[in-house]
Amino acid sequence: MELRAFAERVLLSDSLELKIQRMSETLTDENPGPSVRLAEPVRPANLQFAPRRAAPSMPHPSNFSDPRKRAIAHHILANHELQALEVMAWVLLAFPDAPTEFRMGLVEVMADEQRHTRMHADQAADLGVQFGDLPVNCYIWKKAQDFQSVLDYLAGIPLTFEGRNLDHTLEFEEYFAAAGDSRSAAIMKAIHKDEIHHVAFGLKWLRILKPAAQSEWDAYVEHLHWPLRPEKSVGDIFHEAPRIAAGMSREFIERLQAPEPNEGSSTEPAGR
Ligand SMILES: [Fe+2]
Ligand SMILES: [Fe+2]
Repeated sequence: MELRAFAERVLLSDSLELKIQRMSETLTDENPGPSVRLAEPVRPANLQFAPRRAAPSMPHPSNFSDPRKRAIAHHILANHELQALEVMAWVLLAFPDAPTEFRMGLVEVMADEQRHTRMHADQAADLGVQFGDLPVNCYIWKKAQDFQSVLDYLAGIPLTFEGRNLDHTLEFEEYFAAAGDSRSAAIMKAIHKDEIHHVAFGLKWLRILKPAAQSEWDAYVEHLHWPLRPEKSVGDIFHEAPRIAAGMSREFIERLQAPEPNEGSSTEPAGR
């Protein structure tokens, strides 16, 4: 199967099963086709993007002893994973001229996002809420509409959303464990480990695609579209170890820990 056909299956299927079905065939990229920028992914009726603020917000972790609250958390996180998957498919269609090695590598990341969506959806269901029972937002998808290049994608998704998730996965692992839900905690741990590879993938391609004379940090900041900014790539607690494991340079980590005022001065909510 061609990468383009795989991307179309993810973006144009109205069946969740098809969207998150793992690719079993060997993929080829012989006919990337013309650039197409899809405005909205096709989704099943119960997973349509809801109007702003209609989707439930993340329950406070102090209420995680209530299984329903944990189910809502997994429901929200399943939608984050599904949007990440859809954005990656969008990138395959929008940037057909990107290096084949990048496109093939992105498909590997997508297989992880498919698995993550399924893990959260199954866990939400086990806790009493089917994926699609609650309204879902389109925050990550909408941000991707600003991407004009692969470098914009790398700055926005792997280095900001997935970078932030290095911290969030550890935070949620702790919250679920504190609530006595070891299965939910284990899911977060597994996703955390994958996320290190996803951030590493982003860094690798930032280094390859940026101008040689430009620093990694400058390339990262230049390709962020407001409201994305460096402070959005950090969770409530900054974890250095997964960033080192992802191959981030000392300088990059230091800049992330202390963004310059004009790079991260707003107090606007993170919009997770
Ligand atoms: Fe994921
Ligand atoms: Fe990821």
